[in-house]
Amino acid sequence: MTRLLVRDLAQVVSPAGTGAPLRGNALGQADVLEDGYVLCEDTKIVAVGRTRDLAPLAGSDVEEIDGRGLCVLPGLVDCHTHACFAGDRVDEFARRAAGATYEELHAAGGGILSTVRATRAVGEQALVDGVERHAQWMRSAGTTTFEAKSGYGLDRETELAQLRAVKAAGGVATWLGAHAVPPEYEDGDAYLDFALAEVLPEAATIAEAADVFVERGAFDAAQARRYLDACRGAGLVLRLHGDQFSEQGAISLAIKLGARSVDHLEATGAAGISALAASEVTGVLLPASALFLGRQMPPARALIDAGAAVALATDFNPGSAFCESLPLVCSLAATQLKLAPEEALAACTINAAHVLGRAAQKGRIAPGYDADLVLLDAPDWRYLAYHLGHDHVARVVRGGELR
Ligand code: NIG
Ligand code: FE
Repeated sequence: MTRLLVRDLAQVVSPAGTGAPLRGNALGQADVLEDGYVLCEDTKIVAVGRTRDLAPLAGSDVEEIDGRGLCVLPGLVDCHTHACFAGDRVDEFARRAAGATYEELHAAGGGILSTVRATRAVGEQALVDGVERHAQWMRSAGTTTFEAKSGYGLDRETELAQLRAVKAAGGVATWLGAHAVPPEYEDGDAYLDFALAEVLPEAATIAEAADVFVERGAFDAAQARRYLDACRGAGLVLRLHGDQFSEQGAISLAIKLGARSVDHLEATGAAGISALAASEVTGVLLPASALFLGRQMPPARALIDAGAAVALATDFNPGSAFCESLPLVCSLAATQLKLAPEEALAACTINAAHVLGRAAQKGRIAPGYDADLVLLDAPDWRYLAYHLGHDHVARVVRGGELR
């Protein structure tokens, strides 16, 4: 047995409550314990309390971390990334800076399809190396659990290689088989004929969820329904990219099909807000993507006030959000989305863990939960959102091991 004791911490902080996903008032509650400790045994948290109440531990197998001046939070959970890709889009970034829009670049064969060309051109080992490198960036920013999607292959070999690479790098794999229509196919229906017959059966043995981009120029609601119905039949959890640029019916489809989440929501109007709030579907907010593309922010406050369950994620990808930092996303949540720091914390820990089907293991500091912790070099945990763009992560513990 390996034991790890983090003691004399300025604050031990965890989203309050026991259930998930949190919504309404519960979303804004955090348990804050001053002068605390966290004791882990092997891969689990076994005790949390005040350091002054800590009885001497028998045995000499305890590794101790001096937590003075540090705050500890649950390891952050990034429930929406596109971390498996090759190449970059720095030239497009420069063109966008000079005035070109994301949709114009996409319509001209750039955008997602330029990353598809780059991703198809490298082998599986290069994809694994890429996800590992990106996972290391995420870990440096406090992320201990990440999801990553395929969607830059759009052919059988590369889609499956992407999913295997995500798993090999320790991520939760989502099959984004309906991200864009690749140039070999006349239209979305012809591409879906291929993807559902040739890729889904094997993708469903690697991925946990399926995702679809519902948008003009990508897939419409009828095509998304066909794709998601088939994916549900193959045992996958359902997720959607919806209302990013325009409302195309993604929220009502998500509710009808019992999807786990609908992600983006920058263009969601009043009817979508009340429908989502009254449903079991979690809204995943991606403010770094809205910022990076210079678009309006999602109506986060209205969603939360109406009672919706929300999560926060980076959307890390080379085109619309080249940002792997959940602390930065928390700063955007506080300053742009008007979330309280407690709401932002719950949204990128326990509620994000719920989106990934891991709310019983991840996203809280409590006995029985996984020993995933992030130690912040700050006198108050709210520096997570307050100190804009700062690297506050002192140590990361993942599965009981110091990283
Ligand atoms: O979530 N909107 C669709 N997909 C990604 C962008 C992917 C890309 O630009 O490469 C997103 O923003
Ligand atoms: Fe995305």
